Amino acid sequence: MAKIIINEHEKLGHINPEVQGHFSEHLGRGIYEGLFVKEDSGIPNVNGMRTDVVTALKEMGVPLLRWPGGCFADEYHWMDGIGPKETRKKMVNTHWGGVTEDNSFGTHEFFELVRQLGCKTYVNGNVGSGSVREMSEWVEYMTFGGLSPMSELRKKNGHEEPWTIDYFGVGNENWGCGGNMTPEYYGNLYRRFQTYVRQYDPEKPIKKVCGGPNVDDVNWTRKVCETTFTQAPGFVHGFMDGLSVHYYVHPGGWDHKGSATEFDNAMWYKTMKKALYIEHLIKIHSDILAQYDTENKVGLIMDEWGGWYDCEPGTNPGFLYQQNTMRDALIAAVTLNIFNNHSDRVKMACIAQMINVLQSVILTEGEKMIKTPTYHIFHMYKGHQDADCVRSTIAENADIGTDEDPVPALQVSASVRDGKYLVTVANMDIDKSYPVELKLADTALTSVKATIVTEDMHAKNTFDDPDAVSEKDFTDIKVENGVAKFTIPACAVLGIKF
Ligand code: AHR
Repeated sequence: MAKIIINEHEKLGHINPEVQGHFSEHLGRGIYEGLFVKEDSGIPNVNGMRTDVVTALKEMGVPLLRWPGGCFADEYHWMDGIGPKETRKKMVNTHWGGVTEDNSFGTHEFFELVRQLGCKTYVNGNVGSGSVREMSEWVEYMTFGGLSPMSELRKKNGHEEPWTIDYFGVGNENWGCGGNMTPEYYGNLYRRFQTYVRQYDPEKPIKKVCGGPNVDDVNWTRKVCETTFTQAPGFVHGFMDGLSVHYYVHPGGWDHKGSATEFDNAMWYKTMKKALYIEHLIKIHSDILAQYDTENKVGLIMDEWGGWYDCEPGTNPGFLYQQNTMRDALIAAVTLNIFNNHSDRVKMACIAQMINVLQSVILTEGEKMIKTPTYHIFHMYKGHQDADCVRSTIAENADIGTDEDPVPALQVSASVRDGKYLVTVANMDIDKSYPVELKLADTALTSVKATIVTEDMHAKNTFDDPDAVSEKDFTDIKVENGVAKFTIPACAVLGIKF
């Protein structure tokens, strides 16, 4: 019998809603078709934003959206995406399929989308192929309320009031697609570029995100921190509010990622082990950051995470379109649990990517739309947003997996807000269910409610069968002597509220 104990007295951190953030890049059918369609396309939309998609996303709860990239950010020139659509300059999207980007989705469209979603904004600037002036003027265009060349241009293009940038990324993956830089070089560029990301409205400070490492590249983290925190008297935060980390789960490795839908038991456990590895990454990069940011003011920003497989057969390889199964549901569940349990340092995160690209929450085909298993996990977990994470431990947890890829059967996080608890439990075992007792350390439970996402490991939603995987009420749970008792099915994620 596994025993989950929630210590209501031990707060681990505050769960910023933004840790459940999303990322949408100019890549494949993520923005064009997925979110944004021609107003006369016949697909219901408001100012080009798909009504079905926006409605589903609002119901799921999107706290933050990152745009325009990714690799695309470092070749994006924002001025090409403003003004009358007919005259906007076209470009080649060299990273993603070499297709022509017509720039019909630009700054105004992004802010219209986030207005409809009601979420925070994370704009990623161009360091790789842009200039300091270009970045600085973009920030002025977006956020300056007074009289200036850029604010006048914004007004001329139809938007009187400044918008709010909550987070601004100074470059993306500058160790790779963002310019192939060394950490010292990027660290110095970061210092320079961020200087001109001006804070025009003291009431709405922009949080600056410094480009961090890929996976376990501690050398990058150390050298960037060394460069940005050095000789900055008075600037104890190294000129940054956050340091980004990117980590994708490629089950078979970068060169043989494997199918999104066809995998065996061994590949399932390999995937789970790789998903759990993000906790190690959080620890190693946090430890380095803590040596510089001794006051714990700089957040770790996990702004690209998720499962990345071979793209669906017959689709453009540059579009990164992949299906989504219960395996993705479990990746999302354990990852979000880990973010919660490290909420003292992980302050924002973005799953890659929101629609039709990599581990998406929504897939579209023409006017059709489906919610993926990952969508249902985000929906279940939204109760964690803005809550305090409290310590949860599991006694008598089973060791499962393979010799090569051992994993624990169960994994958990718990949070409380205004006296209301949400405990999310993942069972990574594809064959076995487990009886569980769940209790608070010092308080007797009286009644609980729960929902569940469970199906066999290959289960997915398709355009013909859109609800094969969904979140359902779970009533097979009872409270006896202040303790909740239930059996968690194999391959399942349970959200328990009390
Ligand atoms: O999410 C796809 C790509 O992965 C992003 O553009 C890039 O930042 C990362 O390598």
